[in-house]
Amino acid sequence: MPTALITGATAGIGAAFARRLAADGFSLVLVARDAARLSASAGELRKRYGVAVEVLPADLSLDEGVTKVEERLRQGVDLLVNNAGFGHPGAFLDVPVDEEVTMLRVHCEAVLRLTLAALPGMRARGRGAVINVASVAAFFTRGTYSASKAWVVNFSESVAAEAGDRDVRVMALCPGFVRTEFHRRAAMDVSGIPGFLWLSADRVVAEAMRDLARGRRVSVPSARYKAIVSIGKLVPRNLVGQVSARIGRR
Ligand SMILES: NC(=O)c1ccc[n+]([C@@H]2O[C@H](COP(=O)([O-])OP(=O)(O)OC[C@H]3O[C@@H](n4cnc5c(N)ncnc54)[C@H](OP(=O)(O)O)[C@@H]3O)[C@@H](O)[C@H]2O)c1
Repeated sequence: MPTALITGATAGIGAAFARRLAADGFSLVLVARDAARLSASAGELRKRYGVAVEVLPADLSLDEGVTKVEERLRQGVDLLVNNAGFGHPGAFLDVPVDEEVTMLRVHCEAVLRLTLAALPGMRARGRGAVINVASVAAFFTRGTYSASKAWVVNFSESVAAEAGDRDVRVMALCPGFVRTEFHRRAAMDVSGIPGFLWLSADRVVAEAMRDLARGRRVSVPSARYKAIVSIGKLVPRNLVGQVSARIGRR
């Protein structure tokens, strides 16, 4: 039975990956900080899908948390989903520097280290995949969040080119707005975001798995967000910056 390790597996997109992969017959390793919630999620998944589920409580903003997950990955997994992440509502000058650095640790350092821990075993076995959850924000400008997600896209494409092949795949997943706990946790005001821009986590995961199977290196779920990303590339960067700086902020 193949094994998948998912970070941020207790809520939102990570929980949707856990359900989908369990339904596909993967054994799971679930990573997040809240140990009680991890155990509850693992219990539900075992009961519903009859698969083996390990829990690995770890804070990916801390060296010891990342080290713990690296050690598990070196024992061998078939699929790594680097999904854990968070946002904050403030403009650059309003965000305390330690929050910015924590974001870079979770979105960039942990993704780098966990990818590096997983890939050698996948290459040795001649099979495996890494999905790094970025964002549509990677193609726009919105503080450290979009800068960190732009890094995830470029990093994933670079690793796919240098260390991937037909059998070992690396893909960046770039969702638009998804209904999860993300915006409430970040205290973002999303009341102005129109309904048609919201995607479900299950749909994002279904499109991601389809794009991974097709060998895509970047996945942007839904036609509407593919169009938004394409249009964003044609619009002058200073105008893009003015619009995206206002989203989610009062
Ligand atoms: N929702 C959106 O609109 C959207 C759009 C584009 C991209 N994304 C990206 O999608 C990913 C998942 O977001 P989501 O919307 O599903 O968020 P969510 O519902 O808030 O879930 C976040 C998950 O990450 C875990 N997590 C957060 N910080 C962590 C840390 N330091 N160490 C380990 N685990 C941590 C959380 O569990 P604990 O709190 O227990 O640690 C939780 O399981 C993120 O990378 C986000 O940037 C989201």
